[in-house]
Amino acid sequence: MSPAATNPVPIPDGRVLAGIRATSDQHIGNYLGAIQNFVDLQERFECIYSIVDLHSLTTLEETAELAANVHETALILLAAGIDPARSILYVQSHVPEISELHLLLSMVVPNGWLLRVPTFKEKAREQPDNVNYGLVGYPVLQTADIVMYKATHVPVGQDQLAHLELAREIVRRFNRHFGETFPEPRPELTEAPLVMGLDGARKMSKSLGNHISIAGDEAATAKRVRSAVTDPKRARRNDPGRPEVCNVYALHEFFDPEERPRIYEQCTSAGIGCVDCKDMLAGAINERFRELRARRDDLAAKPETVRAILADGADRARAIAGEVLREVQERMGLPPTQTSR
Ligand code: TRP
Ligand code: SF4
Repeated sequence: MSPAATNPVPIPDGRVLAGIRATSDQHIGNYLGAIQNFVDLQERFECIYSIVDLHSLTTLEETAELAANVHETALILLAAGIDPARSILYVQSHVPEISELHLLLSMVVPNGWLLRVPTFKEKAREQPDNVNYGLVGYPVLQTADIVMYKATHVPVGQDQLAHLELAREIVRRFNRHFGETFPEPRPELTEAPLVMGLDGARKMSKSLGNHISIAGDEAATAKRVRSAVTDPKRARRNDPGRPEVCNVYALHEFFDPEERPRIYEQCTSAGIGCVDCKDMLAGAINERFRELRARRDDLAAKPETVRAILADGADRARAIAGEVLREVQERMGLPPTQTSR
């Protein structure tokens, strides 16, 4: 039998944990699919948002820029409306309890579970020379992110469902071995529209270079949008277009839905050209992000303020994490730490 916990940390009613990967260039796919939802969830839950820098190390990509990318991601999240007075926003590596919990959880995770994960298999194919131990443990680290706070809800898109299912399995196995400790985290599915990239063929993603940045000035946005692939059969201005196969049309849905019927009509009757249509889209995107961008630029001029927000977030996160870690250590039979006082 495992030791009981003398002082278990209560399971919260509704606590959200979301992890977001740091990149130099958060794009509108991330915004519509995740960030906007993070902001809204603050109305319904106690929310903890983690910028997951350790996860970035599993691919050893852009480590020289990692700190800068974390900072940029924090700017975007804050400018989008993550409110540090209500929610906790912090950087994963600033809460070392997560790394320890990751190690402890690893003891209850069969290798077979991890080797079957689709994202692992994909990465192993992509980087055959660096199929490292951390990469295999990626979902265990993700589980530690979540259960560190006994989080009950995790906002994810379809692509993360396998990771979340694994987290639930790890929780069940841990609880079976060591007593009811963690709630099974539930996916809070975003009505995440699948935002296609400028190539119109693949999901918008920074690594594919087919993205439209959230930050960035209006002229740059317009230029990016002009480069979008449209209906390939619409070779000349006078050819009617087919909005249903055009990604620019799909993007209008997110940024100016009221205009869509008119665009449909004008595209199919060759009333507008693609350049006009794209400029309208760029205008709508620029309008949507105007205030966010101004707030981002303000914050970018005050790096100390942002660092202080993240430091405060880490302190608040560690206050919870420390208690949960103590409970886990005790349940797993580790001897209590002696304090020298
Ligand atoms: N794996 C997630 C992604 O690629 C990021 C992530 C890390 C995460 N830890 C998390 C998401 C915890 C939700 C909860 O997007
Ligand atoms: Fe697409 Fe607009 Fe061109 Fe029609 S007019 S093909 S909707 S970009």
